[in-house]
Amino acid sequence: MSVAIAERPAELTRVHIRWMIRRDLHDVLGIERAGFDHPWTEGEFLHCLRQRNCIGMVAEQDERIVGYMLYELSKSRLHLLNFAVAPHVRRTGIGTQMVGKLFGKLHTHRRGKITLAVRERNLPAQLFFRALDFKASKVLRNYYEDSGEDAFLMEHHADPDVEYADDMPGECWNEF
Ligand SMILES: CC(C)(COP(=O)(O)OP(=O)(O)OC[C@H]1O[C@@H](n2cnc3c(N)ncnc32)[C@H](O)[C@@H]1OP(=O)(O)O)[C@@H](O)C(=O)NCCC(=O)NCCS
Repeated sequence: MSVAIAERPAELTRVHIRWMIRRDLHDVLGIERAGFDHPWTEGEFLHCLRQRNCIGMVAEQDERIVGYMLYELSKSRLHLLNFAVAPHVRRTGIGTQMVGKLFGKLHTHRRGKITLAVRERNLPAQLFFRALDFKASKVLRNYYEDSGEDAFLMEHHADPDVEYADDMPGECWNEF
């Protein structure tokens, strides 16, 4: 686990992180709409989740969904496609725990990095990922069709001195 995560104080909200299932989509869409000016539609979620390498996870607190993430796995990297925490529980460490799950999927000699694109104007998300040791590596010009906004490509590279432990190994059962 990364130093940034290990240093977080203990009183943070603990969440249970599990594979996303079809029934979760209603709550996930609610968080998506609260989190983004240009939210994905249900059809976009389904299209994405039906791809072979696309995986969805949710974070639950007292059996309520408070966050979710979608990512694409390839041999060399894990690419984060969508990631949000419900507004009323932000800044309580939930996003950090979700990224911690992704760190568990890194293996230095195989899948060595996590990448994502973040909107140029989404400073909170940039600060969040920077706090978790992601670095901006490239500007992607006119990346978003909806607004024409640029994106920053951010990357986190596996630390060769860290043994990453995946507590949810293997591929998920995908019912989408
Ligand atoms: C970005 C987001 C996922 C962060 O989730 P979160 O659960 O609130 O994050 P955490 O509580 O784990 O924050 C960890 C650290 O990141 C940094 N951080 C998080 N949100 C921040 C903000 N709004 N401003 C500045 N720093 C922030 C802080 O260093 C924070 O530690 P601290 O609270 O001890 O200061 C959440 O704000 C969100 O859902 N935003 C809307 C959707 C979005 O932008 N998704 C990312 C798309 S690329």
